[in-house]
Amino acid sequence: MATIATVMLITMSLASLVSALNVNYYENACPHNVDSIVAAAVHKATMNDKTVPAALLRMHFHDCFIRGCDASVLLESKGKKKAEKDGPPNISLHAFYVIDNAKKAVEAVCPGVVSCADILALAARDAVALSGGPTWDVPKGRKDGRISKATETRQLPAPTFNISQLQQSFSQRGLSLEDLVALSGGHTLGFAHCSSFQNRIHKFSQKLEIDPSLNPSFARSLRGICPSHNKVKNAGSSLDSSSTLFDNAYYKLLLQGKSLFSSDQALLTHPTTKALVSNFADSQEEFERAFVKSMIKMSSITNGGQEIRLNCKLVR
Ligand code: HEM
Ligand SMILES: *[C@@H]1O[C@H](CO)[C@@H](O)[C@H](O)[C@H]1NC(C)=O
Ligand SMILES: *[C@@H]1O[C@H](CO)[C@@H](O)[C@H](O)[C@H]1NC(C)=O
Repeated sequence: MATIATVMLITMSLASLVSALNVNYYENACPHNVDSIVAAAVHKATMNDKTVPAALLRMHFHDCFIRGCDASVLLESKGKKKAEKDGPPNISLHAFYVIDNAKKAVEAVCPGVVSCADILALAARDAVALSGGPTWDVPKGRKDGRISKATETRQLPAPTFNISQLQQSFSQRGLSLEDLVALSGGHTLGFAHCSSFQNRIHKFSQKLEIDPSLNPSFARSLRGICPSHNKVKNAGSSLDSSSTLFDNAYYKLLLQGKSLFSSDQALLTHPTTKALVSNFADSQEEFERAFVKSMIKMSSITNGGQEIRLNCKLVR
């Protein structure tokens, strides 16, 4: 009996953590429109640099997958204590200044009220909308965490993951196979370095040089960009054919063997995820509906941050 009561208590407090997020959270504490202040900062940065939206979307994903969406991804390393930012798979994490600019603008009207974690969640939404994707109301009320450890970036899914590893990584965070397929659609934006898909185009297996699930001419072009002893710094490929447009081309290309990561290709190796890939390839609308639902779910993972930072790089 005691165990049942405990389980119920934990379940109830988890539910209250989730429901603590609210789209009108800052209505009283900051009647200035927080959403539009953040949107203006993201818009301004994007006008100067088209790679900003992809960076912000990925930054939010990394934040939510480690310690929940608590802006731990934004903290700076302190001496020998390396933060997530300086952890191994940080390549291509960039545009942190956009969050700092948004935070400054928000602090100017409502000092000490709005969390960096909320600003990042809003910026990710704006990134998608500015790229021609859907928009949605972002539930707010996240608190910022005080801990960020480079070693914990190992908890992120790797591009070499197969479907069972991906499923496990997502389900540990309360996310389903449908969330996995919809959120992988984030790969409609942005860029990947050669190292992220190297495993598919050189020494794929003992017998095969190239991943046979790759389209042969696509594989040839990737090998052209990324030779086995690659000397070009920052060489790589855009994630889909329209890397600044939030569309469903990612799924269409995936069905043609033209995805970059093994983890993308893996979505075709399970009947449930394969069917979803086909649905989203056929319908931009279905993809957008699913993406919005899954983004709200992912961005509501909160493990209880403690505070509202004043500077997103530093704990208070
Ligand atoms: C399913 C597991 C996932 C894996 C294994 C994965 C892996 C990766 C890798 C390896 C890169 C390229 C890094 C580089 O070479 O520079 C990348 C880029 C990216 N990912 Fe993912 N990712 C996953 C899920 C997601 C999710 C859920 C989102 C957001 C909803 C996302 C959004 C992005 C974006 C936008 C980029 C491009 C970043 C840029 O251009 O700055 N990814 N991802
Ligand atoms: C990624 O980590 C490296 C090595 O620790 C570091 O030099 C670099 O500044 C980090 N990149 C970002 C964007 O923080
Ligand atoms: C995925 O990889 C893990 C670890 O290498 C392995 O144990 C598992 O059997 C693989 N699953 C599939 C579906 O290939």
